[in-house]
Amino acid sequence: MKLIILAAPGAGKGTQAEVLSKHFDIPTISTGAILRKNIADGTTLGKIAEKYINDGKFVPDEVMIDIVKKRLSEDDCKNGFILDGFPRNIAQAEALDKADIEIDKVLTIEVEDEKIIERLSGRLECKKCGSSYHKEHKKPQVSGVCDNCGGALTAREDDKPEIIKDRLATYYKQTEPLKKFYADRGILKTAIGQEDISDTTAAVLKALEG
Ligand code: AP5
Ligand code: MG
Repeated sequence: MKLIILAAPGAGKGTQAEVLSKHFDIPTISTGAILRKNIADGTTLGKIAEKYINDGKFVPDEVMIDIVKKRLSEDDCKNGFILDGFPRNIAQAEALDKADIEIDKVLTIEVEDEKIIERLSGRLECKKCGSSYHKEHKKPQVSGVCDNCGGALTAREDDKPEIIKDRLATYYKQTEPLKKFYADRGILKTAIGQEDISDTTAAVLKALEG
């Protein structure tokens, strides 16, 4: 399965990608996670990306396209992959076509803005391994400590209310048009993500069956 998850910030892309990755036994390529790892490691890419991310803006296409093409050419992607956070605009989608990277399905997870703001305001993320939690909806076993690796959990820099608003505006302007782009190809699958995480997973698996 070669799958794109296309949804607003905070709709649950990362959360559902983690479940689907185990279910289909394929890797998730999260462009946001790759960028955050580079920021944490202080790489040149991290230094470029940090400014954009913390302003709620996209990192330039040429940078992102290069990262994704390289990552998809690795061996573990041969039998399929999940793209979480790419493509984010028409130019990035066209770059996949140009590189002859075929996509089987594009999943969209629909959640109202009000819920998105509540989810992102309560999100906690592990700085070390990137695992994501929520203060109410997905609590770690020990408060403030990552279940996976024991790392410290903190709020993301871009989860501040004023930046969330900018990220949502950028999504509606630049990313949402991709729904039509892939619907026209007959590969867009829609799941409602308003309910809790397990209900959303059930809706996602049902949408992907079709
Ligand atoms: P990225 O990391 O991809 O951020 P995003 O798209 O804003 O999405 P999020 O990670 O915030 O949300 P999510 O949908 O994964 O939600 P999650 O599952 O965590 O990108 C960050 C930045 O990097 C971008 O803004 C941009 O600057 C740059 N970037 C990345 N890719 C790029 C590209 N291709 N081109 C250019 N720039 C790029 O869930 C959110 C919270 O809700 C969690 O706490 C979770 O536990 C909780 N939750 C999830 N589902 C439910 C549920 N059903 N019920 C209750 N709570 C839930
Ligand atoms: Mg995410």
